[in-house]
Amino acid sequence: EKGSYRHFMEKEIHEQPEVVARTLGAYVDQVENTIRARDGLDFSKASRLLIVGCGTAAYAGEVAEYWFERIARLPTEVDIASEFRYRDPAFLEGDVALFISQSGETADTLEAMRLCKAAGLITVALVNTAHSTMAREADIVAPTLAGPEIGVASTKAFSCQLAALACLAVRAGIERGHLDTASVTDHVAQLMAIPGTMSEALRADGQIDQLARDLSRSEIVLYLGRDQYFPMALEGALKLKEISYIHAEGYAAGELKHGPIALVEEGVSVIVLAPSDSLFAKTRSSIEQVRARGAHVLALTDEAGAEALEGLVQASILLPAARGAANLMSAAVAVQLIAYHVAVHKGTDVDQPRNLAKSVTVE
Ligand code: M6R
Repeated sequence: EKGSYRHFMEKEIHEQPEVVARTLGAYVDQVENTIRARDGLDFSKASRLLIVGCGTAAYAGEVAEYWFERIARLPTEVDIASEFRYRDPAFLEGDVALFISQSGETADTLEAMRLCKAAGLITVALVNTAHSTMAREADIVAPTLAGPEIGVASTKAFSCQLAALACLAVRAGIERGHLDTASVTDHVAQLMAIPGTMSEALRADGQIDQLARDLSRSEIVLYLGRDQYFPMALEGALKLKEISYIHAEGYAAGELKHGPIALVEEGVSVIVLAPSDSLFAKTRSSIEQVRARGAHVLALTDEAGAEALEGLVQASILLPAARGAANLMSAAVAVQLIAYHVAVHKGTDVDQPRNLAKSVTVE
């Protein structure tokens, strides 16, 4: 039931703080201030983590690569399932393979999992559907508790995947001896801040709705980000193209001069994920480059960032200033709201976009 919401997607965007909190509850031990171990999953001896998924699930994996490498010093590789399964991947002794899927039924992801199982790897399924084929066949199940996701465009399943992955990265950091007690406590505090931060981010709804009117007239929208915000830029672009049919591309901000800046001219919209973090100065310089070529720039940033970008960008969407995964996930809320409101302004079928199915069970 949609309740008072116009679309399932809108409802699912707004229920994220709640379902993310529920998902965190499956991983975080708040009494001991740590992340619970999962039966059979031991990152201490892992030589490498392979993450495989399709679409939005693969982007969640790409975000997690930054976390597993930074927090747990665990070499991580992320693949799109349809490429992975046909490229005869080379495995290493000690590889752990993690498959991300909302449905647990996506054909390519499932076949990639079967391939890894046959090769003798430990397989972990990060799935939202508890009784799915992937959940049944994997050695270990890591749940997301988003509840049924009806909108074809994934929103709450994505943020629950991110929440679970953030927990698993901390768990890996503990098991691999890279986190002392104080850092674990700090990570747990950051994780527990996620739902509150996402609720705050949802307050940008009205502002985004207003900005979406202009954006819905764009023919091209570029999304730029650095570090963990790079895969989020890819996800933002995917969300917009899926439901508004506007041509959108996500790029690492540092790649601008290697090609995409050729697209930028008067009338092109650029959405920049620009939190005021250690890379802010670099992101700001990317903004200057696209502004100099006439782009219309929307920055997703916090108060400090908005102040520093005053006069340079057309508008800043104000997000809370949080740390780590919480900050990233407030950007997730913003890119979802942008796609949603642009699509509503365009009058497209938000929950059932053309040509797309909720679950891709045939290749
Ligand atoms: O059920 P899955 O998570 O395996 O689905 C993967 C993709 O098909 C899915 O994320 C797709 O990209 C969505 N339409 C994204 O909004």
